[in-house]
Amino acid sequence: MFARARSWLDDRLGLSTITEFASHKTVPVHRYSVFYYLGGMTLFFFLVQVCTGVMLMLYYRPSANEAFESVEFIMTVVPFGWLIRSIHSWSANLMVFFAVAHMVSVFFMKAYRAPRELTWASGALLLFLIMGFGFSGYLLPWNQLAFFATKVGTDIAGVVPVVGPWMVRFLRGGDRVAGGTLSRFYGWHVALLPAITTVILVVHLALVQVKGMSVPAPCEEESKRRPPMKFFPHFALRDLSGWIFALGVLAALAALFPWELGEKADLFAPAYENIRPEWYFVFMFQTLKLVPGGEIAGIEYEAIPIMLFGAAGLLLVLIPFLDRGAQRTGRSKGWTLGGVAALLFALGMTCWGYASLLPLYVVLISGLLLSLLAFITRGSRNPEGR
Ligand code: HEM
Repeated sequence: MFARARSWLDDRLGLSTITEFASHKTVPVHRYSVFYYLGGMTLFFFLVQVCTGVMLMLYYRPSANEAFESVEFIMTVVPFGWLIRSIHSWSANLMVFFAVAHMVSVFFMKAYRAPRELTWASGALLLFLIMGFGFSGYLLPWNQLAFFATKVGTDIAGVVPVVGPWMVRFLRGGDRVAGGTLSRFYGWHVALLPAITTVILVVHLALVQVKGMSVPAPCEEESKRRPPMKFFPHFALRDLSGWIFALGVLAALAALFPWELGEKADLFAPAYENIRPEWYFVFMFQTLKLVPGGEIAGIEYEAIPIMLFGAAGLLLVLIPFLDRGAQRTGRSKGWTLGGVAALLFALGMTCWGYASLLPLYVVLISGLLLSLLAFITRGSRNPEGR
C-alpha cells in the first residue's frame, strides 16, 4: 500500500526527480568546510521564528490599549506562553547573529565570485529583511523601552534630506509614534516581511542548490584530493545534530533568562535616559551620537553618516560586481582588508555604545569555537564521501 501511495504521488509530483537530484548532491571537503553549516543554522532559527511567531499571534492584540496586556496575558496565563515568547526573542537575536556570521564567512571565502553573485545579493537582502523584523518586532510589546527606541529610531529617518519627512510619516503612519504605528509595525512583522522574506529565501536556497557549494581559492588543491561529502545522509545528519544542539541552547537560554516585559508605554512620560536599540543597530546609533549638532548647505550633520550607512548597505549588495580581483583569481587583499576594517569599526562602536567589552568577548569566543570546530573537522578523513 505504501509503495502504491508513493508511486501515485510520484506520478503527480515527480518525486523521483527530486530524490535523484538529492542523491547526487555533495559538499566539498576542506579545512574551512565547517563554515558551510552557518547558513543552515540561520535557516533553523528562521523556522523557529515562524513556528513561535504563529503561536504568539493567536493571543497577541495589535492595539495601543491591548498590546501590553495581551503580552502580559501570554506570559502569565497562557500555558508555556512565557517560554514561547522567550524562545521567540532569543531566537530572533541568534538568527541575526548567525546571519551575520554566515555573511562574514562567505565574504572572507569569496564565495560571492561568479557564478554566485545573485546568491550573495539575495543573502544581503535577507539580512536587511531580518533587521526589519527586529525593528518592527521591538515595538510590539508596547513597553516604555520599545516606545522610546522606536521614537528615536524613526526620528533618525526624518533627518535625511528631501525624503526624510515622508519616510517618518511612512514609518509611523502619522506624525507621532502612536497606536497607528503599532498596527503598521504589526502588519509588516507578521504579513509583509514574512511574505517577502519567504520568496527571497526560496530564491537564495534554490540558487545554492543550482550552483552547489563553492570552494575557496586557497583550498582548491586540497578539495581535489579529498572526496566530497554526500549531502544525504552525511551532511544533512551533521546539520541536524547542530540544529538539535541549537534547540537545547535556545531552550536553556529561554528558561534561565526569560525575556523581560518592562512597563507599559506611557506616551507622556519623559524620555528614558539610556535609550538603546537592539544590539545590531548599536554601532550606527553610537556613530550618530558622536555627530555634533549643526548643518552645512541646509543639510544637518547627522544626515551625512545616515546617508553613508545607506550607501554602505548598497555597497554590500554590490560587492560581487565590484570586487574584480575575486572574480579573476578568487583572492582580493583590498576587499578583505576593507571587510576587516568595517568589522572592527562596527565592533568598536558597539563596545563603545554599551561602554563594555562584552561584545568583543562574544565575537572572540565565537571565533575561537568555530576555529576549534574547523580544526577538529580538518583532520577527519573522508573515505567514500562520508
Ligand atoms: C535568512 C538568512 C539566510 C539564510 C537562511 C541563508 C541560508 C543559506 C544556506 C542554507 C546556504 C548553504 C550552506 C552555507 O553555505 O552556509 C547558503 C549559502 C550562501 N549564502 Fe546564505 N543565508 C542567509 C543569509 C545570507 C547573507 C546575509 C548572505 C550574504 C550577504 C548570504 C550569502 C550566501 C552565499 C554567497 C552562499 C553560497 C556559499 C557557497 O557557495 O560557498 N546568505 N545560505
